Amino acid sequence: MIGTRGSVDPVAMRRTMGRFATGVAVVTTRDLDGVPHGMTVNSLTSVSLEPPLLLVCLTTGARSTDAITSSGRFVVNILSARQEHIALRFARRGEDHFAGLAVTQGRHRVPAVPDAFAHLECDVERAFEAGDHVVVIGRVRETCEREGEPLAFLRGRFGDVVDRGHEPVSWFF
Ligand SMILES: Cc1cc2nc3c(=O)[nH]c(=O)nc-3n(C[C@H](O)[C@H](O)[C@H](O)COP(=O)(O)O)c2cc1C
Repeated sequence: MIGTRGSVDPVAMRRTMGRFATGVAVVTTRDLDGVPHGMTVNSLTSVSLEPPLLLVCLTTGARSTDAITSSGRFVVNILSARQEHIALRFARRGEDHFAGLAVTQGRHRVPAVPDAFAHLECDVERAFEAGDHVVVIGRVRETCEREGEPLAFLRGRFGDVVDRGHEPVSWFF
């Protein structure tokens, strides 16, 4: 055993997983009444290339979680280094995340965050509960990438990715 304790509390879980550096994304959707919803996530993971699948883990009972599973559609907006304010806006519980925000429209009028580092437009392939979250697997229908730098998240803080000029790993392209 590496650790010293037999049980893991939520604070230890969040703190330890917070050492896994990630990007930051906002998942957006439009519910069946046409109301836009969105929330900030860092649980985004690529699942499969053929077919193209990704997943996000969304807290059970959040408005965006219900809107995504019921509408069956969402957009993943991967945020740029200049969009920390967007990450904070879409992480505030219970607020109208879209108030005063200009959005663009993706497929089926799903709102998207303008000037994001990348967009992936998805249909819900599967969704299932796991603990206190819903794992949503998305089938990617469209992708779009932009120039710029990504927003990073590590140990509970936003940050920048420093490019030290390493060669890409051989299998990447
Ligand atoms: C950097 C960051 C990453 C987050 N990642 C997730 C996540 O992956 N899944 C999740 O359910 N909530 C995540 N949250 C919290 C949600 O953004 C927040 O609870 C949400 O906006 C609440 O939305 P609601 O008003 O629809 O309930 C994250 C927050 C931040 C700041």
